[in-house]
Amino acid sequence: MAQSRRQFLQQVGITGGAGVMYSAMGALGLTGAAETPAYAAPTRIELNGRGRKHVVILGAGIAGLTSAYELRKAGYQVTLLEARKRPGGRNWTVRNGTVEKDLHGNTQTARFSSGQYMNAGPGRIPQHHVTLDYCRELGVAIEPFVNQNADAYLYREGATALSNKPIRHRTAKADVYGYVSELLAKATDQGALDAALTATDKDALISFLRSFGAIGAKADGFAYTGTDGRRGYVVEPGAGLEGGTTATPYGLSDVLASGVGNYFSFEFGWDQAMMMFQPVGGMDRIPYAFEQAIGRDKFVYGAKVLGLRNTSEGVTVVYSTGARPRELKADFAICALPPHIAATVPSNLPDNVLASLRYARPTNAGKIGIEYSRRWWEQDHRIYGGITNSNLDIVNTWYPSSGFHGDKGTVIGYYNTGANATAYGALSPAARLDRAVAQGTKIHGDVYGRDIKASFSVDWAGTEYSRGSWVGWPSQTDSTYAALLEATGNIYFAGDHLSHAIAWQHGAMVSARATVTALHTRVTSR
Ligand code: ALA
Repeated sequence: MAQSRRQFLQQVGITGGAGVMYSAMGALGLTGAAETPAYAAPTRIELNGRGRKHVVILGAGIAGLTSAYELRKAGYQVTLLEARKRPGGRNWTVRNGTVEKDLHGNTQTARFSSGQYMNAGPGRIPQHHVTLDYCRELGVAIEPFVNQNADAYLYREGATALSNKPIRHRTAKADVYGYVSELLAKATDQGALDAALTATDKDALISFLRSFGAIGAKADGFAYTGTDGRRGYVVEPGAGLEGGTTATPYGLSDVLASGVGNYFSFEFGWDQAMMMFQPVGGMDRIPYAFEQAIGRDKFVYGAKVLGLRNTSEGVTVVYSTGARPRELKADFAICALPPHIAATVPSNLPDNVLASLRYARPTNAGKIGIEYSRRWWEQDHRIYGGITNSNLDIVNTWYPSSGFHGDKGTVIGYYNTGANATAYGALSPAARLDRAVAQGTKIHGDVYGRDIKASFSVDWAGTEYSRGSWVGWPSQTDSTYAALLEATGNIYFAGDHLSHAIAWQHGAMVSARATVTALHTRVTSR
């Protein structure tokens, strides 16, 4: 259990260090909560004129949008200041015509076909996340996101017998589960676990292992032979007398040495298990639905925050949309900027709060979307959605979860984090594509480099207004972190970084709800 959580956190690269990882594990793993957190939406307050509180929200990412949406429902006046020309923050869908200049000086213009897109930020939503509640409430249609596919590949570069060739997930699983089951059944039967197991337990365990690993009976030495078909066929079962031909499993030592089994815990993760979902047409359907529900007139786009001050009456925010700086006075502010960016805004926040904002450790992630004019992964590899994981620097290849059997499709050619993301980010967009294609070709063959229509890549550390993919904290239990969970005067904070679902929209949403609840409780108890 603990191991799979740990691997999950490592695999998504959320953590800033072991301390962060273990505290996050504690918070995520020990609660065992099976339900989404209860949320009592603020009761609507009808305060007119001077009594109607005005909240200025810095940043129209998911936390800012959720804050504004919930505050509006409760009767508040809101203004959202957003530096970009669109809502969503890291929730960003790149489509034909999207133009982005990154901090490295690269300007990319997406040339995807109509209907093709790439979710540059969040791409998948688990069933238990409140993100789906907002999709339902806002009328955002969803469809399955294929997070696991038995026929996608595992690829390990190296010097083992299973290295340097794509192995289907099903094959790797059958062999790993089979051999582990065989070994455990033998050990159990030979009495190695007698101190821990009663005779009844042993029978029950062996019964489970025979099913789980598809191993033989005791008379066969509990041998795993891979003959039941779950690892795949050399000749598939067919008509008439064709019963199918299975291949001999890979050798036990080779399977263990390959490390393919070390990936399986990913799909056991609290947040990574199927079913998972995506909005139909792109993840940014969510921010645009929020924008519509909040009211477009509440947004100031292209607004860079130049100053933030607590005053005796409320807050004063100075911002610029290009021309003269403007001053906005409100009763409260919710700062929903990434913490490391909030720390750079000139303000009268006290030193301890600034130190808390700087306590966050930004990390990096990168993605490339490659549009192909032929769905070769379906036609040639019979892979319909899902993820191929590798130990190459591209790490993850995502096959599209929609548009099956269409005449085109957009593959995420790499989704990587940390140093791998930064290495790709340092390249020009054309060089990123070349490198991704060279790596993807190792797994999929030359087809990977053919029929490419367009590509677009994102390096989150090199993306203005984000400057990172998400953050880790040295600790999420100490007072440095906790200082941001309370208002500093009339200034509140919100964001996924102030949750235990960092790097998920759910985290931004539950943080925003907590902040709105605290603000509303204060206003109504005056
Ligand atoms: N939530 C992010 C993902 O699923 C980290 O990849």
